[in-house]
Amino acid sequence: MKVLIAGGAGYVGSTIASACLDAGIGVVIMDSLVTGRREFVTDRELYEGDIADGPLVDRIFAEHRDIYAVIHCAALVVLSDSVADPVGYYQANVVKSLDFVTHLLRNGCGRLIFSSTAAVYRAGADLTVDEDSAIAPCSPYGRSKAMCEAIFADIASVQPLHVLSLRYFNSIGADPKMRTGLQSRQPTHALGAMIRAHDEGAPFLIAGTDYPTRDGSGIRDYIHVWDMAAAHLAALGCFDALPGPALAINLGTGQGTTVRELLDAFNRAVEYPVKALEAARRPGDVVGAYTRIDRAKQLLGWAPQYDLHDGIRHSLQWAAIRDEILPGAVSRPS
Ligand SMILES: NC(=O)c1ccc[n+]([C@@H]2O[C@H](COP(=O)([O-])OP(=O)(O)OC[C@H]3O[C@@H](n4cnc5c(N)ncnc54)[C@H](O)[C@@H]3O)[C@@H](O)[C@H]2O)c1
Repeated sequence: MKVLIAGGAGYVGSTIASACLDAGIGVVIMDSLVTGRREFVTDRELYEGDIADGPLVDRIFAEHRDIYAVIHCAALVVLSDSVADPVGYYQANVVKSLDFVTHLLRNGCGRLIFSSTAAVYRAGADLTVDEDSAIAPCSPYGRSKAMCEAIFADIASVQPLHVLSLRYFNSIGADPKMRTGLQSRQPTHALGAMIRAHDEGAPFLIAGTDYPTRDGSGIRDYIHVWDMAAAHLAALGCFDALPGPALAINLGTGQGTTVRELLDAFNRAVEYPVKALEAARRPGDVVGAYTRIDRAKQLLGWAPQYDLHDGIRHSLQWAAIRDEILPGAVSRPS
């Protein structure tokens, strides 16, 4: 089996690619390297370019007639940037994705796994969601993903396309073999910011302390990126048996962790604990949610294998070697 991974030089896409290779699945990577890293694809075939580039997609399919499915991870992903630049985000994530799926259909590709997000949901009062919860994104980023899902579903209802949207919750950790991890030195998510605060001997800012959670800080469902990759393998293994033509499955752990709880767990993993400072919410921030994972278990036969502590440990291990693997590492957020 061979898969095309768009965005396969990024954090999640490169991890999925490693998991595929470990499982004996061939990979072809398409990536513009706008945020992805060439170092993540040195042992993989890279087509450098944009998902909206029709002739490039045609060339990939002409040169790889045995592509079984496409995994579409290519997007801009910084929620706060999307608030500042909605035009750029809708163009990058919606317009280009529409172009991409048009190119895929022209090339006879009927199996698509789309990287969607928990940010499509607005959490209910108990802060849990499942796939039947209301779609009500709170940021242009979340809306761009919800729009893509809706567009793909419309297309799949009349064209030979079967699309599975995997709604990722908050990925942490790195490839346990440390081939890849988060490429940015300045990640905007809480664990990345804790690692940076730890490295700099600075306090960690808890952004938002008035949320309706057990301790006032935001809540997330932190899932190990390798578990997410494993879910893609499971989906590839049973793709044609999944209900179609369009289906969404949440990928989370089923456990909610608040920012304060994450900091406690982090401080147990490091020698010198990070102090907390309380700060105001950032634009686009939401209270957060965690997911019930029955659908993933039932349809994919998948459940996470790693826990929060593994995710923190692997994130710390990766942060310690990142600059060696990614010389001149990116300082823009991710
Ligand atoms: N990391 C998470 O916790 C998380 C959570 C929910 C959803 N997602 C989704 O997962 C996917 C991957 O996210 P990530 O965290 O790995 O981000 P990332 O920035 O590391 O990876 C995105 C990759 O896509 C590439 N790319 C972007 N636009 C492109 C284009 N037009 N053409 C070709 N390549 C392009 C980038 O160069 C990069 O390699 C995204 O679609 C994101 O929305 C991620």
